[in-house]
Amino acid sequence: MTYIIALDGPSGSGKSTIAEKLAEKLGIEYLNTGSMYRAVTKYFLDRGIKEDNIENINKSLEDIKLSLVGGEIFLNGVDVSKELRSDNVTKNVSWVSANKNVRENLVHLQREIAKNTSFILDGRDIGTVVFPNAKYKFYLTASPRVRAMRRFEQNESNLSLDELEKAIIARDEYDSTRKISPLRKADDAILIDNSEMNIQETIDAIISKVDE
Ligand code: DC
Repeated sequence: MTYIIALDGPSGSGKSTIAEKLAEKLGIEYLNTGSMYRAVTKYFLDRGIKEDNIENINKSLEDIKLSLVGGEIFLNGVDVSKELRSDNVTKNVSWVSANKNVRENLVHLQREIAKNTSFILDGRDIGTVVFPNAKYKFYLTASPRVRAMRRFEQNESNLSLDELEKAIIARDEYDSTRKISPLRKADDAILIDNSEMNIQETIDAIISKVDE
């Protein structure tokens, strides 16, 4: 029997690191759905496609082929994983992920990818929309300051700690108030605030719930 673990939560809650390690430990596959939204964002940015360019967005969606290869997202056959965390992609991914057609395409693809295999997926709407019947659902969060600090320590951004915190608060607000699939905890998801927990402690907390 295959099963799904949905791991949702805001940016910087440690979802992707934790999901990757959990997948390894449990011997299941891992899909980082944020990377899929980022890959589509990169495609638009590379072509100068803007938020209000609806026709172009819809037409591009037919040309974008995303695939999961060795745990990484490939965009039209190319490994773009190293280019997805830039400030420019991060700044633009919110409007891309608020687009209805983008979401429909990616949600469909996520369901296809995880159809016949046990998967842990991390994202914002996995437990609410993509796999509402997932066997296990977790909602990870931490204070904005702690999340900004984690991003700061990853050294992927040119922003200061204060700027990162502001950007995180703004993105939380945008993601949780958008009309389509806003970021929110599924009613039946287990909430874990890991502000004062490290990666291993968070993993242990999740595994103890799965074992129960
Ligand atoms: O997890 P991340 O920071 O890489 O996600 C990037 C953006 O994509 C984030 O602003 C919200 C969006 N996202 C989404 O709307 N739905 C998902 N399932 C995953 C990410």
